Amino acid sequence: MRVLLAITGGIAAYKAVDLASILRKRKDELKIIMTENAMKFVSPLTFAAVGNAEVYTDEFEYRGLISHTGLSSWADVMIIAPATANTMAKIANGIADNIVTASALAFKGPKILVPAMNVRMYENQVTQDNLEKLSKYGWKIVEPEIGHLADGEEGKGRYPENARIIFEMESLFTKKDMDNLKVLVTAGPTREAIDPVRYISNRSSGKMGYEIAKAAVLRGADVHLVSGPVNIQSPFNVKRYDVESTQEMAQRVLDILNQVDIVIMAAAVADYKPLETAQQKIKKGLSLDLKLVKTTDILSEISKVKRPDQFVVGFAAETQNLLENARHKFESKSLDMIVANDVSRKDIGFESDYNEVTVITKNETVHLERMTKNEIANSLLDILLKEIVKKN
Ligand code: PMT
Repeated sequence: MRVLLAITGGIAAYKAVDLASILRKRKDELKIIMTENAMKFVSPLTFAAVGNAEVYTDEFEYRGLISHTGLSSWADVMIIAPATANTMAKIANGIADNIVTASALAFKGPKILVPAMNVRMYENQVTQDNLEKLSKYGWKIVEPEIGHLADGEEGKGRYPENARIIFEMESLFTKKDMDNLKVLVTAGPTREAIDPVRYISNRSSGKMGYEIAKAAVLRGADVHLVSGPVNIQSPFNVKRYDVESTQEMAQRVLDILNQVDIVIMAAAVADYKPLETAQQKIKKGLSLDLKLVKTTDILSEISKVKRPDQFVVGFAAETQNLLENARHKFESKSLDMIVANDVSRKDIGFESDYNEVTVITKNETVHLERMTKNEIANSLLDILLKEIVKKN
């Protein structure tokens, strides 16, 4: 994507350096513009080096194009981060007196504004009126966070996480084909306690389920994410519920089930748990006999109470007879779709950023070649949406 990143003169300008770095790593094409005040906080050289990008600071500069009109027709998206109250006031009133405000006036594509300033300046009615105007003029406003501000005050005005700005940018370019759907996704492993310090679990990182949740929310769905213990950041705008054991996951899933249209069970749920959990740490001996019993089969419980219009997807993590075992689970758990996942391979499945799966539905069997879990997630949702149309 061609991104025109505009920096204005607030202390948070230094945080936009990381935004430039993230955009570069995503392989977006980047050009940067800065106001004179922005340069008092961070030098153009820093942005040029970190973003590997040309930096423009003068609206009348000519480098094969007139900077403000040329850059604004080159870009697919414009991001002003941080946006000061002063710059917002100018743009809201059509003032074009520097490279940033002139480019903003000339820019016709999707545009994002990231206000960051002192809380009193942010809350001032004139700033709020300007924000309302800018939103009406098509700017996507990424709200500042509440917290500690540069001058020692507390309040709303903090520059948000750069990951949120990227999320909003991705959202602007994602078709909203799940707009009125409510989705429940499970992700990560469950843990079954042996004693207060030990447990039975598995190698699931949660990446597959989290990518599905993120893809669905970007496509407009209302997403509930029931997550086992993982070390990854929550996708923005999902309702996340943290659980530990299979019983907790089952309870949470069954509580939410009635509110959703689609259930996607990507979690690697433990199949067995200790018959008893010791109250104290078990002392070390020569050996230890653990008696295990089956956990609740969440998908089987869902199948007993689901409505006919609900669409239920399971995963099958297998190390042998992949399709045969997946087909068996598809039937025995009364699913609408199952995703067969070969977890014997190191380059896909557990913990990897990549996956390769075979999707089985009542109508077709589709193999998805190895790709990122984000791409797999979107392909799964494409198949799922087609199946929902056929089902209803
Ligand atoms: O988390 P990652 O590191 O990204 O790895 C992704 C993954 C390999 C965990 C994921 O893609 C995957 O395959 N998830 C399903 C793992 C699993 O538990 O498979 P299973 O074949 O044991 O179970 C079949 C289905 O029944 C699954 O949808 C599972 O969520 C569900 N199940 C299992 C046991 C149980 N007690 N209740 C269930 O509902």
